[in-house]
Amino acid sequence: MKIAVAKGDGIGPEIMQAVLSIFDASNTGLQYEFVDMGKWVFDKGYSNGMTPEAQKTIEELGILFKGPMETPKGKGVKSVNVTARKTWNTYANKRVFQSLHGVETVFSKAGILIDITIVRENIEDTYGGIEHMLTHDVALSRRFITRPGSLQLIKYAFEMAKKKGTRRITCGHKANIMKLTDGLFLDVFYEVAKEYPELNADDKIVDDLAMQLVVKPEQYDVIVMTNLQGDIISDLCAGLVGGLGFAPSANIGDHISIFEAVHGTAPDIAGKGIANPTALLLSGLALLRHIGLMENAAIIENALLYTLEQGIRTGDFGDRSKPALNTGEFTQAIIGNFGKMPAQGAKPLLSNMPVTPTVFKLENNSMMESADTEQEKIVGVDMFIESNEQPEVIAQKCLHHGGVKFKLINISNRGTQVWPTGSKYTALVNQYNLRFESLNESALKQQDVIGLYVSLSADYKVCSLELLNMWDDKKAYSLAQGQ
Ligand code: NAI
Repeated sequence: MKIAVAKGDGIGPEIMQAVLSIFDASNTGLQYEFVDMGKWVFDKGYSNGMTPEAQKTIEELGILFKGPMETPKGKGVKSVNVTARKTWNTYANKRVFQSLHGVETVFSKAGILIDITIVRENIEDTYGGIEHMLTHDVALSRRFITRPGSLQLIKYAFEMAKKKGTRRITCGHKANIMKLTDGLFLDVFYEVAKEYPELNADDKIVDDLAMQLVVKPEQYDVIVMTNLQGDIISDLCAGLVGGLGFAPSANIGDHISIFEAVHGTAPDIAGKGIANPTALLLSGLALLRHIGLMENAAIIENALLYTLEQGIRTGDFGDRSKPALNTGEFTQAIIGNFGKMPAQGAKPLLSNMPVTPTVFKLENNSMMESADTEQEKIVGVDMFIESNEQPEVIAQKCLHHGGVKFKLINISNRGTQVWPTGSKYTALVNQYNLRFESLNESALKQQDVIGLYVSLSADYKVCSLELLNMWDDKKAYSLAQGQ
């Protein structure tokens, strides 16, 4: 079997060489097609950080094993790491955080064992990177959470949890504040949970989850999250088990999956031959299991765990009173321990059940499908305008812009209502949201909205607008704070 390999920048080539030599020593039979991705590819003028040949090879082979890559700063280019995940719809980012015997943490010292898998949505959320300056003072980021995207991720997470024999699967979210976006994610979570009654599914608000993870991490098993919150919580979990040097990551997609360490290129130690290859090795083990090389993965993992148990370490972790090995020596120590079993956490050699389930494909390109059966109508519009006038002045100017179709319902600033009622203590910025609703709750046409836009533009710059939709009798928009 052939996989695509991108060595990466900084310590990337050093740790990749270490991991591939461990694979080879365990006779995986894997062949590697090295592809050009990373900083030096940007520098050659490829604006997405990879050559067309690299893209073709990865799309043909379906598996990319990659080292960390640097995004050149100040050139306006997007991270090749994020581009790769998004281009190939690797919708699930799976990160496993396990206590490793020999890697001392406050929890290991207290005898608390951690085994947490975070399944993080990998495409949507603020990572769409759709951002605009509405005024010189006000920036806006659009946060997309979609039903099909959430469904695909959450189905994958439940399927994986079932195969893993999970005790508990928890949805982390902030649906109490972001009622529509995180609310949608949470709804989909419980819809899918109904199909898995044998799993103990629950949810936690993300701030509480963060605290609980630090206080009682052993309570958690599989955690499903949206992109940004999942990113933050997974680094928190990395800290629980000893830091980023022990944090692997698998980006799972329908056609292409990417395996990489969570950490970056570590420019401060690049070229010194002292980097810790463990996180990339753990990512490599997820790769081996993903393609069914279960026995190789178990032999290597047992050797790694045994090596760590012996107190063998690179300079970034472990008992500082013991000498640190360099990357090559650490790698040879692992290879030398093939066949040895660790005292804790030994993996069975014979297991024909991949821990990572096959990907979850949505049928019939249902990404384009809408589940809604309700009657939809436009009942108003939010007009985002630039102004440094007081709310009352804006209201007086805008009441007549409503004409015969709209009435001005309220004005808000940074999401807080400031007209018709509000507080003089609310701090204002130079961008307001004017909420217009249809008179008599009658349905509006887009042309009506354009008419309002034209009228309003006589007095103000309209920075942005959003339609207010109703689905049957349900509002498909949020209220302003205080409305
Ligand atoms: P970093 O993870 O590269 O380094 C943070 C600290 O951890 C440094 O002190 C480093 O020496 C240490 N460290 C990281 N990996 C290590 C290892 N395997 N062994 C021993 N020590 C290790 O984070 P930083 O400095 O914020 O980012 C450096 C570059 O990496 C940036 O250009 C960033 O964009 C890129 N990056 C790439 C990622 C990827 O390819 N997936 C992920 C994160 C950052």
